[in-house]
Amino acid sequence: RSTADDTVTSEEIQMDRIVVGFSQLGAESDWRSANTESMKSTFTKEAGYDLIFEDGQQKQANQIRAIRTFIQQEVDYIVLAPVTETGWDTVLREAKDAGIPVIIVDRKVDVEDDSLFTCFVGSDFELEGLKMSEWLNSFSVNKGIAPQDIHIVNIQGNIGASAQIGRTRGLEQGVAKYGWDLLDQVSGEFTQAKGKEVMEAFLKKYDNINVVYCENDNEAFGAMEAIRAAGRTVGSDLAAGDIMILSFDGVSTESMDCVLKDEITCIGECNPLHGPRVEALIRILEEGRTPEKFSYVEEGLYAHDDTVVSVTVDDKIYRVQQVDRELC
Ligand code: AHR
Repeated sequence: RSTADDTVTSEEIQMDRIVVGFSQLGAESDWRSANTESMKSTFTKEAGYDLIFEDGQQKQANQIRAIRTFIQQEVDYIVLAPVTETGWDTVLREAKDAGIPVIIVDRKVDVEDDSLFTCFVGSDFELEGLKMSEWLNSFSVNKGIAPQDIHIVNIQGNIGASAQIGRTRGLEQGVAKYGWDLLDQVSGEFTQAKGKEVMEAFLKKYDNINVVYCENDNEAFGAMEAIRAAGRTVGSDLAAGDIMILSFDGVSTESMDCVLKDEITCIGECNPLHGPRVEALIRILEEGRTPEKFSYVEEGLYAHDDTVVSVTVDDKIYRVQQVDRELC
């Protein structure tokens, strides 16, 4: 149970406020901290809410337990940021039977019956990965690098999380389409420490890595440490022996600063500010209306290089923003 001021115990719940039980999956990354902060600063007492916040600590069992507690507490809404996609059918059926609307946020759930949740708001992770693949293709074409000379390692997120599934798929589709050399794929669990460990192992195993596709910025920070510790350089001058880091999120000043310095060459934006989006969905439900079942956040790319100005996926054009001092 969080001790933050804007969370409550069940005894403190005021009957005139809207009670929201939020099962957050953990605190693994800068993105996750920003996401938790967005939820806590939106669902305040002043705004008319009682927020019950539970940190699942990366364990689905903890999140299932939290949802069952929310049901017992008869909260008005359950908001779930699910650690993995599968395994939610039973507990979501219990919430539905109790008549409590469930809003899925950030990552998706894969359930047999979509009526087990009310609506979803978050990112399209496969699209994020596809955009990154298109960026890598345009970048390498502009630099005259042949596809077979792109040797990639993929530090994946937590296996089974939709952020991992989508971003990995986006890369694999790029590999199939353009013929890059995908050397290896191992989970870095979305953390800096594990990202470093995985990159250290990759560097011992392969001597021709020139691109590392990290599935979040914290893994990228860890990979960077490992690359430097191995006496290699990070950056986009592959001909000079750099290892180019690609990543996702772009939520911190630190990550934007890395793009400015070409330490991370391109970041696929993943927006964590879901608090107001979830609140808008609750407002719609409170008015007795039906929200869209799936709402996706519009996201772009941040790059050091200015030669790729946009990427196209499924005929839609996405802007690539060059990072300058003002963005940092
Ligand atoms: O689900 C969103 C992902 O989860 C973010 O990219 C990552 O940083 C977080 O851990």
